[in-house]
Amino acid sequence: VIQPVILCGGAGTRLWPLSRPERPKPFLPLVGEGTLFEQALGRVADTSRFAAPLVVAGEAHADFIASQAHCHRLIVEPVARNTAPAIALAAQSVTPDTFLLVCPSDHHIADEAAFLAGVDKAATLAREGWLVCFGVEPDRPETGYGYIERGAAEGAGHRIARFVEKPDEAAARVYLASGDFAWNAGIFVFRAGDFLEELARHRPEMAGHVAAAMERGQQQGAGFYPDAEAFAAITAESIDYAVMENTARGAVVSAAMGWSDIGNWDALMAAQDEDAQGNVAAAKHDLVDCTNVMVRSDGPRVSVLGLDDVVVVVDGDEVLVTRRTSAQKVATLKGARGE
Ligand code: GDD
Ligand code: MG
Repeated sequence: VIQPVILCGGAGTRLWPLSRPERPKPFLPLVGEGTLFEQALGRVADTSRFAAPLVVAGEAHADFIASQAHCHRLIVEPVARNTAPAIALAAQSVTPDTFLLVCPSDHHIADEAAFLAGVDKAATLAREGWLVCFGVEPDRPETGYGYIERGAAEGAGHRIARFVEKPDEAAARVYLASGDFAWNAGIFVFRAGDFLEELARHRPEMAGHVAAAMERGQQQGAGFYPDAEAFAAITAESIDYAVMENTARGAVVSAAMGWSDIGNWDALMAAQDEDAQGNVAAAKHDLVDCTNVMVRSDGPRVSVLGLDDVVVVVDGDEVLVTRRTSAQKVATLKGARGE
């Protein structure tokens, strides 16, 4: 069986005003049934394939996560140090020969069967000692993702020739045009021991701090609490920069699984069913002479007249109105910055 590791951190401020610090993206019901976090748990619920998931999350959300009905184990980070240390905590908590499936909790995956097929392919490569990423075909020069250049064919996938995390737009355009690059979906499969070996090779200090934090940590109620002092000494870095850009043992499998990381309102709209005019709105709202307009409201009815390509979000005492093409910049608004 494979040990799922669900990562739950990060703010997702580009989905303000729905996402706020106390209620970040994984805990929002954005598309489909339940929250993205619940969907992430649901994808690995088959106990014939997966062990009970291990959730790694920050202190602020530990109670909420523990209160969720699902059966899972929890590691509580004393401070956020990004994904490389978070994954290392999980890897340290199991035996080195355990296969880990690392899953973000801020994604939507439309085709679960394709996701599971990807896990099978990735597991065959992980058995040979590879650190395996899930590659998604890119369709725009997005600069918020990692880009994976496919190298020689290897088993059910390819060796990684080059991994470039969040390139600038000029580079992203070149990668997109070349046809040799996939987006990194942020999902990984590897043996815990193989990951820790590569972390120790490329980030020995981080690996040392994580080991110390686990050694001096303790179980308290529903969660395991790594030692705060040892963990705080870590320099924050993602797995992409710390390990995947540097390792010679990277491989990629392709997975056409209807993946979206729902990075902003525009992406959320694209992941939803639209009506004949391209609008996405509950029946109570009134959209007249509108195309490609999305409305989300937790209360008031919203009436929109004669607009195209616009998103309107009402949440409590905040209202957002943005053109779809400006949705990337929502994080710069005062409300999203907490002002
Ligand atoms: N526990 C924990 N602790 N989880 C974290 C932390 C942390 O400190 N930081 C981030 N996460 C979680 C987030 O909640 C999310 O589920 C996942 O880890 C990825 O983190 P993001 O902060 O959302 O990363 P990103 O979107 O900028 O980039 C990553 O994902 C892209 C695809 O969505 C990279 O892996 C890119 O290469 C990739 O393309
Ligand atoms: Mg993300």
